[in-house]
Amino acid sequence: MSTNNEGYKGIYAMHKYWGKKPFNEISKFIKQYSNKNDTVMDCFCGSGVTLIEAIKEGRNAVGIDLNPIAIKLAKPH
Ligand SMILES: C[S@@+](CC[C@H](N)C(=O)[O-])C[C@H]1O[C@@H](n2cnc3c(N)ncnc32)[C@H](O)[C@@H]1O
Repeated sequence: MSTNNEGYKGIYAMHKYWGKKPFNEISKFIKQYSNKNDTVMDCFCGSGVTLIEAIKEGRNAVGIDLNPIAIKLAKPH
């Protein structure tokens, strides 16, 4: 995992969210454990970092979260 702020720049610097993960590290996992056109599901998606990175890497993405603010942040507008 990153120990600097590299994973929290660009769109990810717009807000803070409890437990937000660095996008560059999440992206590595997505590329390693799935293929293009696969579906990545994050049942605790929070602000949607995993979903955004999945879509950027050519995967489909499904996100679930019980916090309505998380859904608002993660949903494409
Ligand atoms: C650590 S945060 C996830 C942060 C996310 N990885 C990100 O990068 O923004 C954990 C999330 O799990 C959600 N959560 C906790 N219990 C849940 C449950 N039973 N069902 C769905 N979501 C849940 C919380 O609302 C919170 O958004």
